Amino acid sequence: MLPAPDTDAIDEAAALLVGAQHAVALTGAGISKESGIPTFRGKDGLWTVRGEPPLNQFQEFHRDPKAWWVRRLEQRANPDEFALSLSASEPNDAHYALAELESIGVLRHVITQNVDNLHRRAGQQSITEIHGNMRWMRCTDCHTRWPEDKVDVNLEDLPPRCPEPGCSGIVKGDGVMFGEPIPPDALERCYAEAAMADVFLLVGTSAVVYPAAMFPQLAHQRGASLIEIDPEPTALSELARVALRGPAGEMLPLLLRAVRERIERR
Ligand code: OAD
Repeated sequence: MLPAPDTDAIDEAAALLVGAQHAVALTGAGISKESGIPTFRGKDGLWTVRGEPPLNQFQEFHRDPKAWWVRRLEQRANPDEFALSLSASEPNDAHYALAELESIGVLRHVITQNVDNLHRRAGQQSITEIHGNMRWMRCTDCHTRWPEDKVDVNLEDLPPRCPEPGCSGIVKGDGVMFGEPIPPDALERCYAEAAMADVFLLVGTSAVVYPAAMFPQLAHQRGASLIEIDPEPTALSELARVALRGPAGEMLPLLLRAVRERIERR
C-alpha cells in the first residue's frame, strides 16, 4: 500500500528531492486543473466529453495546410469553451512551487505534456514542452520554434513559411497533433534528462500517453525514485516510491515547504 497524503509522505518526498543530484518532473493536465483548464480523461475530461481527435490530424494538416490555418484563425476569432479556459488561465500554486523548486536548485528540469504555457509564465526556466506550446509556432522542416508574435501570418498568403535563412518550410502551430511525431529536439532532451534523473516527480498525469510516460520508467529502470502527486492512482503508481494523493495546488506548496525546512536544517 502506498502511504496516504500525510506529513510522513510529504517528508519522505522532500528527503528524496533534497538528496537528489538531478530531479526531473513530468507534468500533465492535472497540474493546470486548478487554473480552470479541464483534464483530458476522467469524468469531465475533454476527450471523455468530446471524443479523441482523429489519428490522422497531422496527415490532414499536410494534405491542406491552408485549410488548417483558416480554421485556426476562425477558432481564434470565435473561441470555444476549452479555448476560452486556456486563454483565461493563470499559473496556480503548483506551477509556482515547481518554479521555486528549480530556483532553489532542487529541481533540474520539467518535461510537460501541457501546451498551456503556464510553467513558463510561472517562471520555469529549464523546460521541455513535449507536446508543444499553444503560444508558439514551429517550422515543419527545420523544426525552429518561435513565440507566435514573431511569425508574420498573412491572411492573403497562407500557410506562413519559415523565415529562417535557407528554409521556406511550412509553419504550423507548435502543438503536437495526433499522428505527428514528437519533434526530435524535444525527444532528445527528454532521453537525456531521463538518463540523468535520480528522482522523477510525476504531477497530474495519467501516464498513459507515450513517449512521455516512458521517461519516468526509463529513469526508474536505472534506479531513480518516483514521486507521484495526483488525487487518483495512475498507470505508474505501482512504480512510485511515495504518492501524495491530493490536488497539485495543495500538495506541491506543502512539499516545497518541507524541502525548504530540510535545507535550512542542514
Ligand atoms: P489526463 O487527463 O490523461 O490525466 C490527468 C491526470 O491529472 C489524472 O491522473 C488526474 O487524476 C489528475 N488530476 C486531476 N486533478 C488534479 C489536480 N488538481 N492535481 C493533480 N492532478 C490532478 O492528462 P495527461 O496525462 O496530461 O496529448 O494526458 C496526456 C496527453 O493526452 C495530453 O498531453 C494530450 C492528451 O491526448 C495531446 O494532445 C498530444
